[in-house]
Amino acid sequence: MKRIAVLASGRGSNFQSVIEKVKDGSINGEIVCLITDKPDAYAIERAEKAGIPVKIIDFNKFKTRDDYNRELRRTMTEVNPDVFVLAGYMRLLETETAKAFKGRMINIHPALLPSFKGLHAQRQAVEYGVKVAGCTVHFVDEEMDGGAIILQHVVPVLDDDDEDTLAGRILKEEHIALPKAIALFCDDRLVLEGRRVRILK
Ligand code: GRF
Repeated sequence: MKRIAVLASGRGSNFQSVIEKVKDGSINGEIVCLITDKPDAYAIERAEKAGIPVKIIDFNKFKTRDDYNRELRRTMTEVNPDVFVLAGYMRLLETETAKAFKGRMINIHPALLPSFKGLHAQRQAVEYGVKVAGCTVHFVDEEMDGGAIILQHVVPVLDDDDEDTLAGRILKEEHIALPKAIALFCDDRLVLEGRRVRILK
């Protein structure tokens, strides 16, 4: 059974979807810890309800970004899970951290990468006028939203969509795609071949 640590900064609905799939046995793993940079993240309540230990590394309490990053890396090293799941973790991982845990970090992004990286991906999609959107689960590397793609789920963009309606439609798919990708990881079915991820049958 794999040990999973989750990083989240806010609401934590993706975190919740992972908690549920661990509980019902779809993911062959246990969530050993939630790490958050925000002491008021709703994700913390979700962890407490599920009996998952929480480590709060309050970004605002550190003098410099480097100090924060050092503490985050120290904590990640100490927890040392098989995989880190970034579920709405809203900070960029510094290069050294990304390198240290390469192949062991999975992120969910609410766009069909490589389109619409960064913040407000759903707004970017509406403004650009694309006809399909979706979410991407990918390994994390040093480049923001740039790592090898594990799964992508597609949704239509409707004429009357705004950022919020599109985000809601994408979020439903996020809640399916993220646990699915973690389940594959935990079953050792993901093989990283350069930029490509082969999914073993
Ligand atoms: C999700 O849309 C995720 O893809 C993005 O931030 C949002 C977090 O939502 N990175 P939640 O905290 O999981 O509810």
